Amino acid sequence: MSSIMPSLMLFTLFVLGIFQRASSASSTCIKTEREALLRFKQGLVDYSNCLSSWTEEDCCSWEGVRCSERSGHVIKLDLTNPCVTPVPLEGDYRRKMVRGNCTLTGQVHPSLIELKHLRYLDLSWNNFSNSRIPAFLGSLSNLVYLDLSNACFAGKVPLQLGNLSNLQYLGLMTNYRDDSHEPSVDNPVDSHYLSVENLQWLSNLPSLRHLDLFGISIRNAEGWLHTIKMLPSLKHLGLGSCRLPDVPSAPHFNLTSIEFLDLSENYFGSVVPIWLLNLTSIEHLDHSTNFLIASSFPSEIIKNNRQLAFLDLTLNFMEGEILGNLSNLCQLSELRLAYNSFHGDIYKILGDSSACFHDTLSILNLGNNNVSGHLGNEIGSFKNLEFIDLSKNSVEGLIPTTLGQLQSLKYLNLRENKLSGSIPRGIGQLSNLYTLDVSNNHLNGVVTEVHLANLTSLTRLDISMNELAVSINPAWTAPFQLKYIGMSNCRAGPQFPTWLQSQRHISGLDLSNTSIATIIPYWLSNISSVIKSLDLSKNRLTGNIPGGFGDTMAELEALSLSDNFLNGSIPDSFCKMKELILLDLSNCWVSLQFGGSWTQIMLGFYRALIGPRTHFC
Ligand SMILES: *[C@@H]1O[C@H](CO)[C@@H](O)[C@H](O)[C@H]1NC(C)=O
Ligand SMILES: *[C@@H]1O[C@H](CO)[C@@H](O)[C@H](O)[C@H]1NC(C)=O
Ligand SMILES: *[C@@H]1O[C@H](CO)[C@@H](O)[C@H](O)[C@H]1NC(C)=O
Ligand SMILES: *[C@@H]1O[C@H](CO)[C@@H](O)[C@H](O)[C@H]1NC(C)=O
Ligand SMILES: *[C@@H]1O[C@H](CO)[C@@H](O)[C@H](O)[C@H]1NC(C)=O
Ligand SMILES: *[C@@H]1O[C@H](CO)[C@@H](O)[C@H](O)[C@H]1NC(C)=O
Ligand SMILES: *[C@@H]1O[C@H](CO)[C@@H](O)[C@H](O)[C@H]1NC(C)=O
Ligand SMILES: *[C@@H]1O[C@H](CO)[C@@H](O)[C@H](O)[C@H]1NC(C)=O
Ligand SMILES: *[C@@H]1O[C@H](CO)[C@@H](O)[C@H](O)[C@H]1NC(C)=O
Ligand SMILES: *[C@@H]1O[C@H](CO)[C@@H](O)[C@H](O)[C@H]1NC(C)=O
Ligand SMILES: *[C@@H]1O[C@H](CO)[C@@H](O)[C@H](O)[C@H]1NC(C)=O
Repeated sequence: MSSIMPSLMLFTLFVLGIFQRASSASSTCIKTEREALLRFKQGLVDYSNCLSSWTEEDCCSWEGVRCSERSGHVIKLDLTNPCVTPVPLEGDYRRKMVRGNCTLTGQVHPSLIELKHLRYLDLSWNNFSNSRIPAFLGSLSNLVYLDLSNACFAGKVPLQLGNLSNLQYLGLMTNYRDDSHEPSVDNPVDSHYLSVENLQWLSNLPSLRHLDLFGISIRNAEGWLHTIKMLPSLKHLGLGSCRLPDVPSAPHFNLTSIEFLDLSENYFGSVVPIWLLNLTSIEHLDHSTNFLIASSFPSEIIKNNRQLAFLDLTLNFMEGEILGNLSNLCQLSELRLAYNSFHGDIYKILGDSSACFHDTLSILNLGNNNVSGHLGNEIGSFKNLEFIDLSKNSVEGLIPTTLGQLQSLKYLNLRENKLSGSIPRGIGQLSNLYTLDVSNNHLNGVVTEVHLANLTSLTRLDISMNELAVSINPAWTAPFQLKYIGMSNCRAGPQFPTWLQSQRHISGLDLSNTSIATIIPYWLSNISSVIKSLDLSKNRLTGNIPGGFGDTMAELEALSLSDNFLNGSIPDSFCKMKELILLDLSNCWVSLQFGGSWTQIMLGFYRALIGPRTHFC
């Protein structure tokens, strides 16, 4: 997203600039337009009183309203939701947005059409509760800018919008990632989504520079490329997740003015279209989740587009070598190539501290490919790196000590590689890091509290499946609250890791095969009321299971105590774990006393093993 902002903002500033000048002098409001605006407001529900200024006499000074200096007519209505904020996701780094508490709801009142001179209308990020986009908007013939994106409109897009022949900006995108549910295969276009009959109506909008229909299902999209060809000024084209049919390989298709192209999530399943390789002005290219087939990295895109800032080819069937000449891209900020079969040497990308993108690169996702080589200390000079995912590749050698210099780093996933040596202590300085996953490598050495010292943002820590020892002072107070901790196969015992006692939000805890040889501490049953998965298997745990386990872990879905030396009885409170799907108590008792509800519990285990979410006792 960030990379498209400059051109988008320039464009917006250009449009706004005109309006700002127009409204700078005191203009007084035209009475009939004031009344139309008031009726429009009556259709809206304004919980947080964003439109409190809409009572003053001069409607030209109302929040979001601008009038023409010359004619006094209302020419701009900008009611985009100002409270929208991004929330970072834990795995995928795409930003998810939340609308916040100043969202307007309600309906778009038809009185809007009385604002005949309106040139700019922005209602984005409000919530029109799955109502239709009103067809009467098609009669606001002076509109240059129309943004209805992410405003919870649903149903068919009215073809009347094709009457807005002056339109330069049309934003209708509807990003289901930000709303509660996604369309399913069974019910692709239910009443909560926007759809459009075809794209032919776009050919009446020759001035379009920005068109974004992301998430809108296009019912008859054959020939979409032909329609797009008729829009000579187009710079931003968003047709992601539109259910487009396969891209025809039009041999002479000139898209040289396109700067932003999103064709993601259309599941084309074809070869890389040749015309894509002829783009020359592209800054943002998203061709992810299209199952495209190519046997070489599309290096023409790199060669012809030095200004490229965003390249996403995630989840295709591409192979071939990721070439070192990526380093010619001086604006590159996001490179997402995960889930392909690309190979190449990671050192060619991150080992070149003179690489042109070395100040701009912030997101690097090469997960699930066949990348090899080692990470050099040069990585420390990529100061803006926020996200590194190299999981499931064949990267080997040491984790560079200079990683600790990447103060912007939020996400580091190196799992399932061939890294060796110890974890550098400097990692403990990354106060913005929220995910640290180095599991399934050949790392050795000792992890101490120094490695975790300043990780104040950390929520996920996975160091499992290495040859690591963990030695943390029992009196140490962790600076973080973790949601997931994986230490499987680390030597952490014989004492139970006491520092875990301060972690109150744990949802998953894996301490299997960690050489713990003691009793289960009484505090463990109290560790987190949201814990879903607890694995203490393959240790030398002795004594009883604390009685309160089932009382305090009501949401537990998976519990393994297998391969231990427990003694005593199964607490009756186990009956209260009503979400339990997976229970492994194999080979864990040296001596089991039969308690009162034993047969009931056995029956419960049986049910827990054969059917999900059945009641336990
Ligand atoms: C909206 O949310 C913000 C921050 O979450 C809060 O400060 C503000 O008081 C809220 N406003 C209303 C009207 O609830
Ligand atoms: C929109 O508002 C409706 C109620 O009018 C609510 O049920 C729905 O969850 C809201 N949608 C979003 C995305 O906030
Ligand atoms: C607007 O568009 C509709 C549907 O495309 C059409 O039937 C109608 O005649 C158009 N109105 C005007 C004023 O052009
Ligand atoms: C593509 O279009 C641009 C103008 O839009 C023109 O300058 C250029 O020559 C065209 N290229 C080809 C190969 O037709
Ligand atoms: C790519 O551009 C070249 C010239 O710049 C042109 O000859 C060729 O036909 C174009 N290919 C496609 C697929 O558009
Ligand atoms: C990229 O570099 C390779 C050698 O590493 C070279 O063969 C290739 O031609 C270069 N490609 C481009 C597009 O510059
Ligand atoms: C991974 O890349 C190497 C070359 O670096 C190649 O020999 C090997 O076959 C590739 N493996 C897969 C699974 O593609
Ligand atoms: C943690 O941060 C504090 C203050 O920023 C600093 O003094 C200390 O040296 C850091 N510790 C480590 C282990 O990086
Ligand atoms: C337990 O972890 C050690 C490494 O600490 C490993 O060698 C061993 O195979 C693991 N045992 C099991 C049963 O997974
Ligand atoms: C569990 O926590 C509750 C409240 O935080 C406390 O009252 C109770 O004594 C604790 N129980 C154990 C076994 O620590
Ligand atoms: C189990 O516990 C009982 C009583 O607490 C004790 O008598 C017995 O020796 C223990 N058995 C083992 C194998 O530890």
